[in-house]
Amino acid sequence: MDYQLDLDWNNFLKEYWQKKPVILKHAFKQFIDPISADELAGLAMETDVDSRLISHNNGHWQAANGPFESFNNLGETNWSLLVQAVNHWHQPSAALIPPFQRLPDWRFDDLMVSFSTPKGGVGPHIDNYDVFIIQGSGKRHWRVGDALPLKQWCPHPALLHVEPFDAIIDTILESGDILYIPPGFPHEGYTIETAMSFSIGFRAPNGRELISSFADYVLEHDLGNIHYTDPELMLPISTADVSPKEIEKLRQLMIDVIQQPDTFNDWLGRFITTPLHELDIVRPDPAYQKDDVYDLLKQGETLIRLNGLRVLHVGGRYFVNGEPIISSHTDVLDVLCKYHEINAALIASAMESKSFIALLTELINSGYWYFSDY
Ligand code: SIN
Ligand code: CO
Repeated sequence: MDYQLDLDWNNFLKEYWQKKPVILKHAFKQFIDPISADELAGLAMETDVDSRLISHNNGHWQAANGPFESFNNLGETNWSLLVQAVNHWHQPSAALIPPFQRLPDWRFDDLMVSFSTPKGGVGPHIDNYDVFIIQGSGKRHWRVGDALPLKQWCPHPALLHVEPFDAIIDTILESGDILYIPPGFPHEGYTIETAMSFSIGFRAPNGRELISSFADYVLEHDLGNIHYTDPELMLPISTADVSPKEIEKLRQLMIDVIQQPDTFNDWLGRFITTPLHELDIVRPDPAYQKDDVYDLLKQGETLIRLNGLRVLHVGGRYFVNGEPIISSHTDVLDVLCKYHEINAALIASAMESKSFIALLTELINSGYWYFSDY
């Protein structure tokens, strides 16, 4: 299904993105759920799929992580089932992503789908990512507060809630409506009529994640071997002091490691194309030979990119799923970045290049692209 999103992106970015929450009423006309509750429950039974079941009764919150063996004994009300990265596992659900692909690919994280019974919800909380919550079937009551400092606590070890807040948005979402919430704005949604919600989530790493990943990269690649030196050393007044000049030199030694553009871009490309959720990778068996790939493309076959695969162009290099891909055919690497489906016509300029077909064969044999009819 082709989902058509009615949104003035320029105006949205100027007024709301990362600034304030907004309701986009009837953003999708005649919205049809891409997945049924039963199919969602089926996904939550799989070990590779990240899911949670959250319920509350008389203020008593419970949470459990999947995979789940059964959904009996749950009752008719007060619970929700939430499944992460549904776009990785369910092709029709992935169709909800393209309408949001006006924003940079690297910022996108995943599609989370929730099924909730009347009064079901995850409780008042704050997220540190941008989210577009699309209302599918059913109705939910949403309250969103201002981004003010609020106390947070855990009503259950797996849940982080926020204290009561005044609402700046208080509304009932109906099928096809979207609620956009920037990071830091407290919100809570309760179901009025059994509902499916589709959350398009974005990622924004913090300094801790970046430094931690960069430090791993430095260790793995045996970088940062230059030691501190001080040939100009003079006797200090107090031997216990680390002088401001020395502090600055040490800081600079660290910055120098980060500031090598080749190092930084190579690390960033790998980091930013590593998905936060498991991919549904199936390696073809037997593996394809280069000639098979060439012939199939020549016969008009289409290659489809694995859903959730991150393919990005970072500082003049190209990366796929945490690894660089190298080819002189950068125009065709741009095609791999830009299109979800490719064919011989789109990659015509590299079709006769043995090295490019070899690279493509490797990507197909890694399970990153697959032939639509095979
Ligand atoms: C939900 O769908 O209940 C949770 C979505 C959210 O608040 O982030
Ligand atoms: Co939330």
